[in-house]
Amino acid sequence: MSSVLFVCLGNICRSPTAHGVFEGLVAQAGLAEQILVDSAGTGAWHAGEPPDKRSQAAARARGYELQHLRARQVLASDFERFDYILAMDAQNLRDLEAMRPASYQGELGLFLDYISEQSYHREVPDPYYGGAQGFEHVLDLVEQASQGLLAHIKQA
Ligand code: 4NP
Repeated sequence: MSSVLFVCLGNICRSPTAHGVFEGLVAQAGLAEQILVDSAGTGAWHAGEPPDKRSQAAARARGYELQHLRARQVLASDFERFDYILAMDAQNLRDLEAMRPASYQGELGLFLDYISEQSYHREVPDPYYGGAQGFEHVLDLVEQASQGLLAHIKQA
């Protein structure tokens, strides 16, 4: 059993996209019983809301359903529940480092570090204030990193 928490700022664009895409890959690989997937935001402004309509539409066009997800804020107890806590950008990671208990034995890092090919992308850019292309870019990056993360977890 392995557990993964994806974290961004609002938990309505990037981390629910990662949640849906990675969960889809896990199910395809027949590992839904072995790998627990969740997402959360460092901020609470959107708690209880479904993912942004633009994230939902972009994901749906690639075969991922995000409609059932609801935003929540990261909790102190997440450090007891998740083996991997993966941040979408460097600010999310700094905020998580500040919450990290000294006893945390899991892996806290940047999600895009799991892209296996050479890549200059280390952060998933926030698409919230931009156009549709930003949401496609999020999906491109998230799909690549999800493949790498699943390969890593299967190996570990
Ligand atoms: P996310 O995007 O962190 O990818 O969910 C954002 C969503 C909302 C806001 C910022 C980022 N906001 O400021 O409300």
